[in-house]
Amino acid sequence: MQPVQAPYPATRHRRARTTAALRALTQEVTLSPSDFIWPIFVTEGEGVMEPVPSMPGVVRRSVDMVAEAAREARSLGIPAICLFPYTPMERRTADCAEAWNPDNLSNRATRAIKDAAPEIAVMTDVALDPYNIDGQDGFVRDGYVVNDETVDALVKQALSQAAAGADIIGPSDMMDGRIGALRAALEAEGHANVALLSYSAKYASAFYGPFRDAVGASGALKGDKATYQMNPANSDEALRLVARDLAEGADMVMVKPGMPYLDICRRVKDAFGTPTFAYQVSGEYAMLAGAAENGWIDGDRTMMESLMAFKRAGCDGVLTYFAPRAARLLNG
Ligand code: PBG
Repeated sequence: MQPVQAPYPATRHRRARTTAALRALTQEVTLSPSDFIWPIFVTEGEGVMEPVPSMPGVVRRSVDMVAEAAREARSLGIPAICLFPYTPMERRTADCAEAWNPDNLSNRATRAIKDAAPEIAVMTDVALDPYNIDGQDGFVRDGYVVNDETVDALVKQALSQAAAGADIIGPSDMMDGRIGALRAALEAEGHANVALLSYSAKYASAFYGPFRDAVGASGALKGDKATYQMNPANSDEALRLVARDLAEGADMVMVKPGMPYLDICRRVKDAFGTPTFAYQVSGEYAMLAGAAENGWIDGDRTMMESLMAFKRAGCDGVLTYFAPRAARLLNG
């Protein structure tokens, strides 16, 4: 509720905008490097920093360079890194066994970060798409992504990530019942303090295009993900999914994509007051970085404005490919 205000000229809203000092004092939300989770693409090799063509400024890094990134995150004040593996094509199979290989790319990168900068929180992605010949997040049976059998595999994947040292498990698969299954398995296997950041409201979005290039899943993907990811037309459903995931043991929740779904962020925060994150996804990054590269918009200012919007919408933090660049700017 807004307080009743005297009419003009007793109330001149421009007074509080007159000087930089007044504007700073009356600013409602702030942005800090500690708001960011930095998504990083991992690939095989050594000393590799391979540009992702559809994401100007973003690279795939070999595990040794991920360790470098962790040291960079620490010096910039970024608290967390989220790992996405570019699995070599020959390790992608119908049974997705590479997903729970203790020595897969994601697990090796987790250990490398924990060696290089143990205070950085490692978040890992739970979903089968980087390991699946179908490019789908779960097992495909007769053209349908099956739920329960997929959840059993996701549990194996998450346990291997926790054993490697992951601090935050991020299930991005959108299967039903996975949060409860993961929570129970983590408790049973001695990982009671591993946090679950559930991609609770993840939409079937065209904004994921550049990401699928980055992890090599776009060529592999057969069909779409509409039978498990949400319909972009829905909003009440997001609240039901968040309520369900919190009841099953999620510690934090995510809305994804970010900018086109700020209304969902606000509704989730207002309804639950739970730690709420947004993922400013690859297509959002590509729009901003691509337009800036062409000189059509001011890259730094649109980046900061877009990130501030997440805070204003009620988010506690944001997964963003801009994390190091925005942190550098904020640190002066
Ligand atoms: C898949 C996954 C996707 C993203 C994160 N995890 C893509 C998808 O669902 O197809 C997208 C992230 C981005 O676009 O930046 N489990």
